[in-house]
Amino acid sequence: MVQMLALNETLKNRSVLSLMEWSPAEIQRVLYTARVMKQEPYSPAFRHALEGHHIALIFELPSTRTRVSFQVAIESLGASAVVFEWGQSQLGRGEPIKDTARVMSRYVSGVIARVKEHETLQEWRKWATCPIFNALTNHMHPFQALADVMTVWERFGYMSGLKLAFFGDGNNMANSLLVLGAKLGMDVWIASPQGFQPPADLVDWAKQEAQLTGAAIHVTEDVNEAASGAHVVETDVFMSMADDPDQRELKNKVMGSYQVNAQLMAQANPQAIFLHCLPAHRGEEVTADVLDGEQSAIVDEAENRLWVQKSVLYHVLADSSAVLGG
Ligand code: CP
Repeated sequence: MVQMLALNETLKNRSVLSLMEWSPAEIQRVLYTARVMKQEPYSPAFRHALEGHHIALIFELPSTRTRVSFQVAIESLGASAVVFEWGQSQLGRGEPIKDTARVMSRYVSGVIARVKEHETLQEWRKWATCPIFNALTNHMHPFQALADVMTVWERFGYMSGLKLAFFGDGNNMANSLLVLGAKLGMDVWIASPQGFQPPADLVDWAKQEAQLTGAAIHVTEDVNEAASGAHVVETDVFMSMADDPDQRELKNKVMGSYQVNAQLMAQANPQAIFLHCLPAHRGEEVTADVLDGEQSAIVDEAENRLWVQKSVLYHVLADSSAVLGG
């Protein structure tokens, strides 16, 4: 058992902003540990791994799954969670990130933050002396994508060579799936309208990275091409939390034909699963029959947030001595 839990020293004290800088082997390691943790949720090997640690959870935007799953992950590793709202702290009154990041690093072992702008988290990492974990920004949602690929692995038994198709807004979820698909050898198709596709530099980066794993990366406006034979069909809300409300009318107009419905699912592989990070808007980006249907894996997907987060916190923050003594 201890062998299975061995810490990968290259992960010690690493931040998670996008996972772009993590190697495929490092990502596979945390996914593997997440599955071990899920199989043995009450294993004493993890219960004391972060004893004595305090980890901050900060929210500039609302959350249900992220807040609860991170808090449970932290406490089930023996650490304590310090949860606070951005708007009720001095950050909400404009205290510079530079000052907050340096001070917080003296109190806690790590900072998990959900912020509107990705640059805010980059600035935080620049000044912090403890690891920073991205709980969602406008650009990336790495822990959600980790939970998604864990769900794919559980359902299919492998990841490399599968086709994952994402429909709708080329948002933080699309971006994060490009990163993990490229790292893990999954073919990723993003079907989005012009003007709402993932950033060209990120797509170029994913194509380059994919050459190392044999993955194929495609960004298209063609829903049928993306859906054809897909093993994983995924979407997200058309309007993300930090989007400009003035974009709602335009988005609803151009995104309509990217809705995931029974007709689209019929073009996918017969064994295809449907994923959505939630919360979902039934009747907008996905129909209720798909979201609540037999191919939907959304509840497993949400559960897996807990296990991937627990695994990453364990690998990044635990000491080998604490683990071996556990
Ligand atoms: N998927 C996700 O991040 O959910 P919450 O917004 O509820 O945290």
